[in-house]
Amino acid sequence: MSTQISVNGPSPYDVHIGHSLNDDIAEFAKDTGAAQVGIVYQPPVAPAAREIGAALEERGLTVTFLDVPDAEASKQLDVVGGLWDRLGEQGFSRRDLIVGVGGGATTDLAGFVAATWMRGIKVIQVPTTLLAMVDAAVGGKTGINTAAGKNLVGSFHEPAAVFIDIDRLSTLPASEIIAGSAEIVKTGFIHDPVIIERYLDDPRACLEPTGLLPELIERSVQVKATVVGQDLKESGLRETLNYGHTFGHAIELVEDYTWRHGNAVAVGMMFIANLAHQRGLIDEELVETHRKILESINLPTTYEVGHFDKLYAAMTRDKKNRDGNIRFVALTDIGETTRIAGPSMDELRAAYAAISAN
Ligand code: GLY
Repeated sequence: MSTQISVNGPSPYDVHIGHSLNDDIAEFAKDTGAAQVGIVYQPPVAPAAREIGAALEERGLTVTFLDVPDAEASKQLDVVGGLWDRLGEQGFSRRDLIVGVGGGATTDLAGFVAATWMRGIKVIQVPTTLLAMVDAAVGGKTGINTAAGKNLVGSFHEPAAVFIDIDRLSTLPASEIIAGSAEIVKTGFIHDPVIIERYLDDPRACLEPTGLLPELIERSVQVKATVVGQDLKESGLRETLNYGHTFGHAIELVEDYTWRHGNAVAVGMMFIANLAHQRGLIDEELVETHRKILESINLPTTYEVGHFDKLYAAMTRDKKNRDGNIRFVALTDIGETTRIAGPSMDELRAAYAAISAN
């Protein structure tokens, strides 16, 4: 049994959310008409990849296990080249299929390989981290990193389907659930006030795979589906998913990517909430709502004092900037967004002062 959330756009697809979905994945794969399936996965999720592979083989599909290095180390051109070689050796054709099993790095990589092999073959995404479930695996962004930065090479390639198996949450470390929750909180602030109510009412249950977390995943995926269904290529609405990310990306860069993405986004949301408050866009109470929710689920809300220049330099490199202006998604209320483009140095310094701590 699974819930399905439809994602519209040039190639509509469904996100299936439920329990024990391996057979559903295999049935779906068989129905695509593929003869061969390449499963892209990283070592920590080898057992999950094997189980999905076995379900595919039971249905007569030929499976190639494509193991790649762990985390962001996999999103490199030489890894992609190795995968293209393997697909070539196995004779993967245009009707064959890739399945990406893992966190956001794996689903980005698997999507990119599928997007580029024979100018695009189908990919099924099977996210195994909370962050990938509510963000990376849905929406068709694929990409790899280069020496100049993260995700600078990629394409929009919508998956044929996404399968979110709630059972996988039970094996995730608490720190992963907390970091992934930052993206859920983000979708609440930008588009779904009920998400915010849930965190205010019972933050502990919001982190529980047997509590409110499945409902929050559904709500968050629904927000993402609605947004990317209207704006796949980020010409307007999709930019709202970047709430908290301008300053968050700057922290990640300054910290040389040792910070968890969700933790950086949490501080980024505090930064932009303060900037918006200083501009009179939101009241003090909404800034406090940010702090209260993020602290209640153990996400960071401050950043070390004394690093403004480095953070500013990193923000000026954000690839979402336009016309040389640093650009932020900001709130005017819960569920209501606007943009702040080219804020003054004084404004940026004041927002940093409000969130910096020794
Ligand atoms: N992670 C933001 C987006 O998919 O647009």
